[in-house]
Amino acid sequence: MAKVRILPKVLVHQIAAGEIVERPASVAKELVENSLDANSTRIAVSVEDGGKSRIQVSDDGIGMSSEDARLAFEHHATSKIASFDDLREITTLGFRGEALPSIASISRIRLKTIDQEALESGLSLGIELEYEGGTLQDTREIAWPRGTEVTVDDLFFNVPVRRKFLKTTSTELSHVSRLITCYALAYPEVEFKLDHADKKIVDVSSVRSPQERVFQLLGEKVAESMVPLEFEREGVRIKGFTSLPHEQRNSSHSLYLYVNGRMVRDKVLTHAIRFAYRDLIPSSSFPVVLLFVELDPAMIDVNVHPTKVEIRFRQSQIVHSAILNSIEKALLVNRSTLSDLARNIPVAEPVPASHRPGGIGRGIEPYFRRRHGDTFSFRSSSSPPAFPTGYGNSSIQGSADVAGSEILPQESGGPVGTPFGGAHADDIPETAHLGSTPVVLGQFVESFVVAVDREGVMVVDQHVAHERILYDQAHRSFESGKVVPSQRLLLPATIELTPEQMAIAHLIFDHLNANGFEVEPFGTQTLLVRGVPALAKNVDPKGIIEDLLDELTTLDELRSGSKLSDRSLRRVQEQIAISLACRAAIKINTPLSPEKMRWLLDTLLQSENPYTCPHGRPIILRLDIEEILRGFKRI
Ligand SMILES: Nc1ncnc2c1ncn2[C@@H]1O[C@H](COP(=O)(O)OP(=O)(O)O)[C@@H](O)[C@H]1O
Ligand SMILES: [Mg+2]
Repeated sequence: MAKVRILPKVLVHQIAAGEIVERPASVAKELVENSLDANSTRIAVSVEDGGKSRIQVSDDGIGMSSEDARLAFEHHATSKIASFDDLREITTLGFRGEALPSIASISRIRLKTIDQEALESGLSLGIELEYEGGTLQDTREIAWPRGTEVTVDDLFFNVPVRRKFLKTTSTELSHVSRLITCYALAYPEVEFKLDHADKKIVDVSSVRSPQERVFQLLGEKVAESMVPLEFEREGVRIKGFTSLPHEQRNSSHSLYLYVNGRMVRDKVLTHAIRFAYRDLIPSSSFPVVLLFVELDPAMIDVNVHPTKVEIRFRQSQIVHSAILNSIEKALLVNRSTLSDLARNIPVAEPVPASHRPGGIGRGIEPYFRRRHGDTFSFRSSSSPPAFPTGYGNSSIQGSADVAGSEILPQESGGPVGTPFGGAHADDIPETAHLGSTPVVLGQFVESFVVAVDREGVMVVDQHVAHERILYDQAHRSFESGKVVPSQRLLLPATIELTPEQMAIAHLIFDHLNANGFEVEPFGTQTLLVRGVPALAKNVDPKGIIEDLLDELTTLDELRSGSKLSDRSLRRVQEQIAISLACRAAIKINTPLSPEKMRWLLDTLLQSENPYTCPHGRPIILRLDIEEILRGFKRI
């Protein structure tokens, strides 16, 4: 007897529905996307029992005629595309024509709608359709004011296996709320409501700017710690907001990602964001990011997965670097407010804080103010005296609360640019006795080392400084041709890898082992780490290996699985040095002893390139004596 049979249609549809509808939030997603595609300005969602017993979405969009409404429940019926070519130019959220029939096949669904155009021309009857398990139960004409309302009851009532997989009401509700929050963040001009058991969960009126929507949904505190993203390169536009490093979350739910208005889950985007924050926040934390990527629809493939949350970029490198650049730029603007602060002390023309360059008005300054009370913290290393070599040290040591001087009276004492005459004219500080070796004064906000030398004052970012030192060391040891010293772990660590990571690991095992690691495969999906380069002895080996594999997945030669060329071997080595340095370097917000600060500075200045870290970030900000003197109108 033949064993192969064609499945009944109902079963086929239920199987297909399983791909689109995993849980109530998936239904909410499809319905809200339909409402947005219908140009709605108001979308109200109401759920019961976390959406397990009811999800209702109503909108004020263009609606449907009776004929279209019936067709909409046929499989592969859509108004959004007509040909394969249209797929390349998709600007709507839906296009597969699968959502309504799929949802209908696994629930009891009722749709009420009226065609906007017919309504306007006075033909004012709407239609109501009811389906159960994919079968039409009832259809009738109704009086209906506007838009569309879809009510989905008893999700998976006819697929008990699926129903069993549904989680608690609160878990399902949290998925629905995140989904609504995501879309509400992306469409600030649309009013969104979400009710659960008569409680308002989301209720946001239409606003003009995305900032206002962030404020409405994520609250004042988060809104205040977000800085805008604005970047464009090679046809990729980046907009949105990203949080200052102090705003941290412990799950990737704080990343709201959109490509051409579509909410997505994407490795390229997530990686670029995490990479941008790699040395600013702990690797287990996430920033809060609202990221809108806009690019020519032809540059992406949205038809990768039935839920449409996964997409494929034709040139993911360009998108990755645009995101990285946009975030680094935004954070750098804020970092520079820090140097502006230094510059603003002596300059006779005060710039109000809100008008400072970078003009975000909520930069790093208020952040530090909040964290450290009303004055900036300045950890002076003056006691015990730790710098026997320190000329000039004593003259500045008394300034332990020097940062309070940010509130110095800022009015100018004379015409701008005119040197003062009179009593102070000759009071130019002696610098001749100062050595060229910097003297450490102390640590600012447990993140920056402040030092002076003959030339002026310098502020050193402790993390990037250490990163540079470790990177140089790793490089030297790789280039020496000698065996790279390794540190055996007390207990070997095991790391679970994805098949993709494992494939890459296989290609670079020899290389890792030649450069201080001791790693070997352990079963098909696991890596056993017995040792790490001595440089990284105190670092979580898992983090380093994962970093490395993540970075290396972008290397084309490795992707294709071919043997490594010399060039790519060098890239692998370079990447090992970068990952080691980044992981092992002192983090910001870490108190340092005076000895450590001095070691850091001395060693840094021996580097061939003490001014930028391996990623190209600045390490030292300087305020030259001349600038100081000019600022105080002494020259
Ligand atoms: N809320 C709505 N307002 C107006 N038209 C809708 C609405 N929901 C669905 N439709 C119509 O029904 C069609 C089928 O919807 P759906 O099954 O979600 O497929 P898709 O969105 O992929 O086209 C849509 O193409 C659209 O024309
Ligand atoms: Mg749809």
